[in-house]
Amino acid sequence: MVGHPPPKDQPGFSDQPDWPGQPDWPGQPDWYEAGLQHLWFPYSQMKTAQPPLAIASTHGERLQLADGRSLIDGIASWWTAAHGYNHPHILAAIQKQLQAMPHVMFGGLMHEPAARLAARLAQHLPGDLDRVFFAESGSVSVEVAMKIALQYGINQGRRRHRFLFFRHGYHGDTLGTMAVCDPDEGMHRHFEGMLAQQIMGELPDDPARLTALDDLMSRHADDLAAVIIEPLVQGAGGMRFHRPETLKVVADLCKKHDILLILDEIFTGFGRTGTLFACQQAGIVPDIITLSKALTGGTLPLSAAIARRGIYDAFHSDDPDHALMHGPTYMAHALGCAAANASLDLFQSEDRLGQCAAISRQLADELEPCRHFPGVRDVRILGAIGVVELMRPPNIDKLRQAFIDRGLWIRPLGSVVYLTPALTISPADLSALTEGIRACLKDL
Ligand SMILES: Cc1ncc(COP(=O)(O)O)c(C=O)c1O
Repeated sequence: MVGHPPPKDQPGFSDQPDWPGQPDWPGQPDWYEAGLQHLWFPYSQMKTAQPPLAIASTHGERLQLADGRSLIDGIASWWTAAHGYNHPHILAAIQKQLQAMPHVMFGGLMHEPAARLAARLAQHLPGDLDRVFFAESGSVSVEVAMKIALQYGINQGRRRHRFLFFRHGYHGDTLGTMAVCDPDEGMHRHFEGMLAQQIMGELPDDPARLTALDDLMSRHADDLAAVIIEPLVQGAGGMRFHRPETLKVVADLCKKHDILLILDEIFTGFGRTGTLFACQQAGIVPDIITLSKALTGGTLPLSAAIARRGIYDAFHSDDPDHALMHGPTYMAHALGCAAANASLDLFQSEDRLGQCAAISRQLADELEPCRHFPGVRDVRILGAIGVVELMRPPNIDKLRQAFIDRGLWIRPLGSVVYLTPALTISPADLSALTEGIRACLKDL
């Protein structure tokens, strides 16, 4: 058992944070060192990781550091800030909602921002995906989607309890979602044997794999509650792309074997791949779709699991046991819903998909030369995602610092150096990012 830490004035309390090499920048804010001793950062070995940068503010495509420097953001805060930071339309919507009501429980109460958002999402999504369950984070929306799939079976007297996911897939960091992430390459590999046993398949991108997946699904058809996949792009698992035809094959096999299909569009949703939702490129409608990230334009935490009418119908009954027993405290957060409505306004009033297409062309032109660098395995572009994959992982800290020295914020994922900028980024700022990548990777 982990004990309580000794109080500050007793021996054993270390004044020194674990981070080595305390940054000693002029203008470092007074809260920095004090906070560093108490914060636990994501995906970081706290003992050896580079100290984080102190951020004072954001604007457009820029991160303003507390020491006065400014960085062009190539990642848009894990792909959320589709319209750039501090978009006035979203800020105004949040401020207006804040005056009226920041949040209220969603059990037995409802409010206009959630009502409008649910109706608008149903209108924008393909097919009859029209029943929206709101949550606060991407992982939780995937948990909800999985729970809906399980209970869909239970409510019909079928106890199908397993999920099929794909190699290199990533669906979140909670226990249920960890079990449908790639167990070998993913970051959760030391939990092997401790999570629910799910089934991993290979993407059917050639005829042999199609047959193998067909066989796998046929063997497990009675057990499988759903197949879950990130459509067109496996993001955190290495920014790997597959063709719409491959996605269509997965959807067809689900139909053939009568297994539900969950599309996790948390990364791909809201224009990232060139269409509002990636599934539109394959012309398919999943049974359940999950959305988050750019849903609020990167301003507030909000997510949704959205089910087709036929799925919802299995819950709509006189039997109380058929109800979905789930209800995050902050679900349908009014500020988040107001931000998401404002973000949707921008997708309607400004040409984000046109901007995405222009980014795509520019990324292709400007990253393509990297293909000929020694140490580069692949260059690939899809929508507003640009990837340079290296033969082996670089010295990440050194590379990240080289980008920072050039005024750029780019965080490689292992051997994958990628850009997922705001869809509003200017051609000049995008060129600064691609030029920085070319310069820093040339001599690796
Ligand atoms: C495809 C996908 N699913 C789920 C998640 C988890 O979302 P969150 O970090 O909001 O829990 C992510 C996050 O990167 C993601 O890319």
